[in-house]
Amino acid sequence: MTVIRSQIIGCGAYLPERILTNDELARMVDTSDEWIAARTGIRRRHIVVDGETTADLALRAATRALADARVTAQEIDLVIVATTTPNETFPSVATAVQSRIGMTRGAAFDVQAVCSGFIYGLAVADSFIRTKQAETILLVGAETMSRLMDWTDRTTCVLFGDGAGALVIRAGEGGGDLSDRGVFNTKLYSDGRLHDLLYVDGGPSTTGMTGHLRMLGKEVFKHAVINIAESIEASASASGIAISDIDWFVPHQANQRILDATARRLKVAPQRFISTIEDHGNTSAASVPLALDVAVRDGRIKRGDLILLEAMGGGLTWGAALLRW
Ligand code: UT7
Repeated sequence: MTVIRSQIIGCGAYLPERILTNDELARMVDTSDEWIAARTGIRRRHIVVDGETTADLALRAATRALADARVTAQEIDLVIVATTTPNETFPSVATAVQSRIGMTRGAAFDVQAVCSGFIYGLAVADSFIRTKQAETILLVGAETMSRLMDWTDRTTCVLFGDGAGALVIRAGEGGGDLSDRGVFNTKLYSDGRLHDLLYVDGGPSTTGMTGHLRMLGKEVFKHAVINIAESIEASASASGIAISDIDWFVPHQANQRILDATARRLKVAPQRFISTIEDHGNTSAASVPLALDVAVRDGRIKRGDLILLEAMGGGLTWGAALLRW
């Protein structure tokens, strides 16, 4: 049986040049490199400078992904940007990317699911491709989380960073079995009752201001390991594969301890969880495509590998996606 598969034909990423180290943060708030590294695994993160925006980062990652895929802007039917830190309340970052890559047709919109945004965006892209509404899609995760930080709150400002990652996804034919290249399934979840665990205390319809990120870290941590492990298991079983068959796990990069605990829970060697947390921190919707790009460039992820992407974030939202690279 012939089926349509959403196949990844190129990837790219971009990190702002400015690096903020733990030692610099220790001069701003009551913290230390030792505490941050031991509790999170983070050593440094990239942050934007004045005038540098989410759309700037998205554009650079998108341009690299298009070059990697050898696809021109005019071949793209749809731009989806997963972000929670848009340049403006409207229009979307996706329309900015659309115009800046020189694309004069098709459609563009943002997806907002905070740190799970890239998984949500991939689910949308996969649906558009399988329902033949689009053939070639540019999917970007881009964030300037540094703009949402309360730089006097040590419980949050040490965790986040800025960056962007992008994929070019194209409709391809498969035989309908697990030897196909492309996305096999995506699993999305949310529980809006858990709003208070992770949110921004502002917005156009409340304070009229952007606001700052607020998090009950310990509570989020408890939900993270359980929810992520369950969504990975749901995604694997939906396609009838064993967890041990998965070559690489590309997780949202919130905390090294979450990655290690998830690996332990699933009885997977921690080395199979791609980690960029030390250098990137938590870049929200950008973290999964940034980690993917690193592992593709350094040769760990190869054509034909079975890959599991997962994330969890504000909402709470979480999810997973299974694909063959
Ligand atoms: O991307 C969205 C999903 N986000 C997550 O998944 C984040 C999940 N949560 C976490 O990663 C962890 O809970 C944190 C890294 C946020 C915090 O680690 P923790 O081990 O849960 O620490 P804690 O909140 O229990 O705090 C322990 C102590 C507290 O002091 P007392 O009350 O024991 O005296 C905090 O005040 O550490 C203190 N603390 C700090 N100390 C130095 C909190 N932040 C800092 C800091 N530096 N930056």
